[in-house]
Amino acid sequence: MNKLFRRKPIDAMLGQRKETGLKRSLGALDLAMLGVGAIIGTGIFVLTGVAAAEHAGPALVISFILSGLACAFAALCYAEFASTVPIAGSVYTYTYATMGELIAWMIGWDLILEYLLATSAVASGWSGYFQSLLQGFGITIPAALASAPGAGKGGFMDLPAFIIIMIVTWLLGRGIRESARVNNIMVVIKIAVVLLFIVIGVWYVKPENWTPFMPFGFSGVVAGAATVFFAYIGFDAVSTAAEEVRNPQRDLPRGIIGSLVICTILYIAVSAILTGIVPYNQLNVNHPVAFALTYIQKDAFAGLISLGAITGMTTVLIVMLYGQIRVSFAMSRDGLLPTFFSKVHPTFKTPYVNTWTTGFIAALIAAFIDLGTLAHLVNMGTLSAFVLVSVAVIVLRRTHPELPRAFRVPAVPLIPVLSILTCGYLMINLPPETWTAFVIWLAIGLVVYFLYSRKHSELEK
Ligand code: ALA
Repeated sequence: MNKLFRRKPIDAMLGQRKETGLKRSLGALDLAMLGVGAIIGTGIFVLTGVAAAEHAGPALVISFILSGLACAFAALCYAEFASTVPIAGSVYTYTYATMGELIAWMIGWDLILEYLLATSAVASGWSGYFQSLLQGFGITIPAALASAPGAGKGGFMDLPAFIIIMIVTWLLGRGIRESARVNNIMVVIKIAVVLLFIVIGVWYVKPENWTPFMPFGFSGVVAGAATVFFAYIGFDAVSTAAEEVRNPQRDLPRGIIGSLVICTILYIAVSAILTGIVPYNQLNVNHPVAFALTYIQKDAFAGLISLGAITGMTTVLIVMLYGQIRVSFAMSRDGLLPTFFSKVHPTFKTPYVNTWTTGFIAALIAAFIDLGTLAHLVNMGTLSAFVLVSVAVIVLRRTHPELPRAFRVPAVPLIPVLSILTCGYLMINLPPETWTAFVIWLAIGLVVYFLYSRKHSELEK
């Protein structure tokens, strides 16, 4: 019993940091860019359409505010943890220090639902915009290779989604510094495109499109919030880069909170304008933001938006895949996953084998599973991680009050409790099938833990 709850000593973890061999090259701005790079993507560019048309109507703005609020509470908790225990592995590592090995393992397992499946989900959104852009040039990909079987379009596999993940994998294998530079350029393009939509769209808003404001009632607004929550995922990925940050104590909280604030403001503006331009019931398309500009006859700008969306989703891919690799890196270093996941390449200073293995699996999932299924699972995995990190903040304040915290959550335990409640509320508003899949996933995780990880844990030695 004690073994299940054995904890990794925080001092030892901080010491281990010096030995990992990862390059420490990121600053606060790089982190905020990494955050925005992870956040703005398939959520705002693709899922807003379905959420407005089927769940929230013009009250989509409220859905965004609701899930933004849940993220804000969770972000504060993340920031405290990231600034106290700045070690690769994010919430997995934090849980290991506070709540013991079994729960840490489960959360690490759970994070796979977040990062790995988000990589696949975003690649699927990417593929949709990419194909619509190609069609603009008269090129059509054969239906069999254009979508996953579950998408209901007669596809056998989503080839573009597979290929883009393999390209991103190659990039990451070369080293984070190069990737961060590419990421920074693409983030600037992405923000520019979102601002362009706002500046053009705002003049075409017809307030009558905002009535009825809540056509599906408040329950629709909450269901919408549970869906568009996907759009906020990513700020937590910043914390997985902890070991590659020059001054983590100061820069991690700034990076996390900064990126969340920027995105929340942009989302509120975009969703208000989107539902103001196009009647909500016409938004059920897979490229709603570009569609809105076509709707007001700004076709050239619609093309630009598509191009920007594709760029934007590429940066999300980079950060999500990066996050997954770093989580399994940390789990492998602790002995809970096989050692090849934490082998560092001598020249590139990256976990090379891990990168290619993870990338390939994500690409396969993207090729064969559809966006809707993936997005709900990702939300479930992420929300449960947020709940755990909020619990862990409270626990760590009690067990390790003496640790220096560069950033402290205000009003503990109120904020962590609010985070648990809001994230939990969104979780119960996810579809029943998602819950079933989630429970099965956790059960498989338990089996792996008892058959492999428990015996191979570094703490066992
Ligand atoms: N927040 C990310 C997106 O919207 C995952 O694509």
